[in-house]
Amino acid sequence: MDKQAFPHTARRPQSAGRQSPAQSPQKTDDTRDMAVRIRVRNIDFYYGNSRALEKIDMDIYKNRVTAMIGPSGCGKSTFIRLFNRMNDLIPHTRLDGLIELDNRDIYSSGADVVDIRRRVGMVFQKPNPFPKSIFENVAYGLEVNGIRNKKLKEARVVDSLKKAALWEEIKDRIHESALRLSGGQQQRLCIARCLAVDPEVILFDEPCASLDPISTRKIEELLLELKESYTIVIVTHNMQQAARVSDYTAFLYMGKLIEFGETQKLFTVPRNKMTEEYLTGKFG
Ligand SMILES: Nc1ncnc2c1ncn2[C@@H]1O[C@H](COP(=O)(O)OP(=O)(O)OP(=O)(O)O)[C@@H](O)[C@H]1O
Ligand SMILES: [Mg+2]
Repeated sequence: MDKQAFPHTARRPQSAGRQSPAQSPQKTDDTRDMAVRIRVRNIDFYYGNSRALEKIDMDIYKNRVTAMIGPSGCGKSTFIRLFNRMNDLIPHTRLDGLIELDNRDIYSSGADVVDIRRRVGMVFQKPNPFPKSIFENVAYGLEVNGIRNKKLKEARVVDSLKKAALWEEIKDRIHESALRLSGGQQQRLCIARCLAVDPEVILFDEPCASLDPISTRKIEELLLELKESYTIVIVTHNMQQAARVSDYTAFLYMGKLIEFGETQKLFTVPRNKMTEEYLTGKFG
């Protein structure tokens, strides 16, 4: 890989005066005892010379749903793509600062990117099943991760489809093309594909944006079930959805984290005037 094209894959320079990673600026009474899954400290992120994220400190808590809200272009997708090193795939980008998964720097020179992407799965706005059967879609990640035993593979596929609340609807046609499923079913298939490799964190980038209200409700119910076992981050433009499914909410604006806190408090008594204006539709 061309090191120059991905300068942030090497250890980033830590400029003088940067905050100690041990400090946790966001701790409040609500969050003091929470177990941290992803720790973000003092990050800046650049596309070329353009800074997309600025001085962000934030914790993502284990077995909780964290929503990312903010106007289009504020940096939500950029931010969550840093959690599994998906931005590595974009040339001329640079990250300064620290991101830890379970207390380990995911951008350290020894970090295993394949394993990080297995542990931190991602579901996108538009369902993106492979043009293969339902079974093959879910089995794919298992094969990539070296699971070849047929019985084990079948058991894991069925289990993942059950966890993604899709099994009952498709159990009689598991070898049919995934492209014949409805949009909402395809999205649950993508969730099953993600679950099959046993992740710890799942990043959802506007997962319901292309779905009807019934499919949306199914995904929301699923998120609430999944948080028992996984840590979930969801980007959404739907404020009702953020309020319904998330425990914590982060409001971003022009690359900055304006406010982060318990969803219920952030929505009812926002501390920042900009948050209040965004929530009441005054801008964005
Ligand atoms: N691949 C890229 N190359 C250059 N600039 C980019 C790239 N991707 C995003 N940006 C820029 O970074 C900023 C943040 O974009 P990002 O996609 O993270 O926003 P977002 O909050 O997810 O927006 P939306 O709600 O529309 O999805 C924008 O100014 C965008 O133009
Ligand atoms: Mg986005």
